[in-house]
Amino acid sequence: MGRASHALAPETLQALLSDRARAAPAKPILDSSNDVVNRISFVYGFPDGDSLPAAEVAEATARVMATDGRWALQYGSNAGHAGLIDVLLKKLKRDQGIDAKPENIIITAGGSQALALLLDAFINWGDTIISEMPTWLGAVQAFNNVGASVVAVPVDDEGTDTESLERELKRLRRQGVQPKLIYVISNFQNPRGISTTLDRRRQIVALAREHGTLVLEDDAYFDLRYGGETIPSIYSLDQSGSTMYMGTLSKTMGAGMRLGWLVATPAIIHRLASLKVDGGTNVFGAHVAADWLPRRLPEHVGKLRQIYQRRRDLMLAALEQHMPPGTSWTRPEGGFFIWVTLPEAIDTTRMLAQARERGVDYLPGSTCFADGSGQNQLRLAYSYATDDQIEPGIRIIGEIVRGELLEAGRR
Ligand SMILES: Cc1ncc(COP(=O)(O)O)c(C=O)c1O
Repeated sequence: MGRASHALAPETLQALLSDRARAAPAKPILDSSNDVVNRISFVYGFPDGDSLPAAEVAEATARVMATDGRWALQYGSNAGHAGLIDVLLKKLKRDQGIDAKPENIIITAGGSQALALLLDAFINWGDTIISEMPTWLGAVQAFNNVGASVVAVPVDDEGTDTESLERELKRLRRQGVQPKLIYVISNFQNPRGISTTLDRRRQIVALAREHGTLVLEDDAYFDLRYGGETIPSIYSLDQSGSTMYMGTLSKTMGAGMRLGWLVATPAIIHRLASLKVDGGTNVFGAHVAADWLPRRLPEHVGKLRQIYQRRRDLMLAALEQHMPPGTSWTRPEGGFFIWVTLPEAIDTTRMLAQARERGVDYLPGSTCFADGSGQNQLRLAYSYATDDQIEPGIRIIGEIVRGELLEAGRR
C-alpha cells in the first residue's frame, strides 16, 4: 500500500499548526551540519574539529560506566545532574568569579535551550525584547519563533551602545511598553567579536533596574579569551537578581555534548524547571562532563586559546592583504568571529553564491539582524577552517568583493 495516498494535505497541516509554528519558516533558514564539509567554511561558530577531546571523553565515558553507569543511563532531574552542577559551580567561582548555589542553576541542552526556556517563561506573542543588533543568529530565530517584538540596540567597539539602550528604554516607557528582557552577549560578541566594557556593563545593570526589566547575559565564549583582561560579568555586578547568566560547553568540550546552563535567582530557576519536561538534560553526557571537566578543562582551554589566537591572527593578516580599500573589520580578543563591513554597494547575501561556487562559505550580515539590515556586512568564523585554508579563503572573498565593486562602478 502506497503511503502517499494518505499523505496529510498541506492545508490540513496548516490548519492544525499552532500560531507559533505557522509563523515560523517552513524549514530551517540555515541547517548547519551538512555544508561545512566540502568548502572552506567561515560560516558557523563550530569549534575546531581536530581539537575536540574525543580520546579523553572516551576515557571519561569508560570511567563513568564502570562506576556510575546505573545512574548515567537513568532518567534525571529537570534541573540537571547534581554532579555536573557541583563541578560547574566550582568552575564559575574559580574562572568567572560567579558565586552561585545549586538552587541558582539549571542544566540545559546547550545555551540554545536555556534561551528557549526563558522565552517560554517570559515572552507572550508581541512582547518586547531589547537586543543588541547584530546578534547571534540563533537568538534572532528564537525571538522570531515566539513572536517577540525586537527593539534593536547597536553594538560598537565598546560593546552594547548603552546610550542607545537608555534612549530605547525611555521611549518604550513613554509608550507604556514594558520590555521583558535585554539580551546581551558580553564577551566576544557574536557576530562582532567585541566585548562590552566594564563601565557599560554597570550601566546595563543600572538601566535594567531602573526600568524593571531582566537581563540575559549570554557568555558562550567566556573561556576563549586570548588577549586583554577578564571583565567582571554583568551577573556578578548585579545585586538585584535581574540578570541571568547563560553558558555552554559547546565551544570548549564540544557542541555535540549539547550541555549548557543558566544561572539565575531560585524563583526563575524553579519556573524554568517546571516548564522543562524532558526527563533530564543529556543525563549520560552530564555524567561524562562531570568527570572530564575538573580533570581536563583548564589544560584543554589553554590549548584552544593558542589555536584560535593563531587563526584570528592569520585571518586578520589575510584581511589586511586582500580586502579592498573602504572595507573595515573588528579585532577580537577572543571567541570565534570577525565582523566585516564592506563598501555600501556590496550585497553579501547576493555575493554568497559566487563565494560558494568558488568553495568558500561565510555568514551574510543580514542573518544577524532581526530586521534583515546589514546587507553590506558579513561574519567570518575563524574557528573551524584549518590554518592553511584561511589565507586562500580570504583571498577568494577579497577577489569577489573587488569584482562586485567594479561591477557596481559600471552600473
Ligand atoms: C552567542 C551564542 N550564544 C549561545 C550559543 C549556543 O550554543 P549552544 O546551544 O551550542 O550552547 C551560541 C552558539 O553558537 C552562540 O554563539
